[in-house]
Amino acid sequence: MSDFAELTFDGKQYKFPVITGTENEKAIDIAKLRDETGYITIDSGYKNTGATKSAITFLDGEEGILRYRGYSIEELAEKASFLEVAYLLIYGELPTSEQYAAFEDDIKMHTIVNEDMRKIFEGFPVNAHPMGVLSALVCAMSAFYTGEKAGSDDLNIIRLLAKMPSMATWSYKKSQGHPVNYPNNSLDYCSNFLNMMFALPVAAYQVDPVVSAALNKLLILHADHEQNCSTSTVRLVGSSQASLYASISAGINALSGPLHGGANQEVIEMLEDIKADGGDTDKYIAMAKDKNSGFRLMGFGHRVYKNFDPRARIIKKAADDVLSKLGVNDPVLEIAKKLEEAALNDEYFVARKLYPNVDFYSGIIYRALGIPTNMFTVMFAIGRLPGWIAQWKEMRANKEPIGRPRQVYVGATAREYVDVANRK
Ligand code: CMC
Repeated sequence: MSDFAELTFDGKQYKFPVITGTENEKAIDIAKLRDETGYITIDSGYKNTGATKSAITFLDGEEGILRYRGYSIEELAEKASFLEVAYLLIYGELPTSEQYAAFEDDIKMHTIVNEDMRKIFEGFPVNAHPMGVLSALVCAMSAFYTGEKAGSDDLNIIRLLAKMPSMATWSYKKSQGHPVNYPNNSLDYCSNFLNMMFALPVAAYQVDPVVSAALNKLLILHADHEQNCSTSTVRLVGSSQASLYASISAGINALSGPLHGGANQEVIEMLEDIKADGGDTDKYIAMAKDKNSGFRLMGFGHRVYKNFDPRARIIKKAADDVLSKLGVNDPVLEIAKKLEEAALNDEYFVARKLYPNVDFYSGIIYRALGIPTNMFTVMFAIGRLPGWIAQWKEMRANKEPIGRPRQVYVGATAREYVDVANRK
């Protein structure tokens, strides 16, 4: 295999280096393309564009492989705690027991959120979408932790991991008309979140180990996914040297879209609609295939996975386990399975390599855990936080230049200004 690629163009020859990753992924380094040829590349949606070299997550969409720092997602989801995975992603290695204890203690030291942040929160309407609230509050942190309060990157990383779950629960409490709960530092990360969500001043909440184990697994499955839309957003915003908070807030906004993290909410709403419509899955499969219907099968398809999404496999099994352990009988699980079976045997979906993605079954589990539908994408954000942080940290450590794509201009050519009175 040659270590450079040749381009013959307008009678001239150019050579560009070939880069090989540790998993034998190949790329042509075109950094000098414009300098040497005067041309740029165009790649709408960045389907072929590598934005960076990263040592965090490996993903093989053809083989359905996902690894964080070399460890398989299957093994981590089975054996690790979410905070261990967060440490692994952010610092590159699994923590020793001393490192783990120190990391957990540091996070516990910072779970309390500044009371002035609550005043900002109180201004949101009761039915505000929790993703909009979360992104605004994380962005507000950039105003709170600035100047002499700024602190090191490591301190800001801890602050975010510690405070984001607390702030996420506020929206739910407000929607119920209940007071918000303070964190309880005697609980582990997932149990603390559940306690803030569900404890009431009048009734203590006993964390069910089945529920906290399921949450732990879901957060791990969401923890990183290399250069997806929200992660690329975090890196791009951070590349201007904007703060970690500003960058993560931008990532939350990118995640909120229905084609990205917002899909988990859309899936449940779609399944509910199908149920209310008599459960006729064939009708919805037909609609998804009809380009004029404007309907897509939410939770299906992925830009990179073209065989199966390994996270979806784990989540499908977890959905069965969790629902049966909790004794929950959710009719939409059956509708989801029927849809999946129909799609996997349908030429349209087979030809386009459309398979269930991570969002297809996750909402069913969240619902069984008592999480309301409009909080599903917030759960995704809590899970993805360590990945965003790790990617931001790597981008800074590698001193990557400010991100600044180019374009091919297709607008009007030069013309003269006409005074408003003379315009037709
Ligand atoms: N239902 C019906 N048709 C689909 C679907 C779907 N869910 N997804 C893709 N297609 C069709 C699409 O119409 C196109 O058909 P054709 O070639 O005839 O024009 C073909 O499949 C390729 O689709 P694409 O939109 O060019 O593919 P993409 O890689 O740009 O988009 C995607 C990937 C995930 C945005 C898309 O599959 C989709 O919209 N899925 C539904 C939303 C969803 O579940 N998103 C969560 C993604 S995983 C978690 C995350 O990223 O947060």
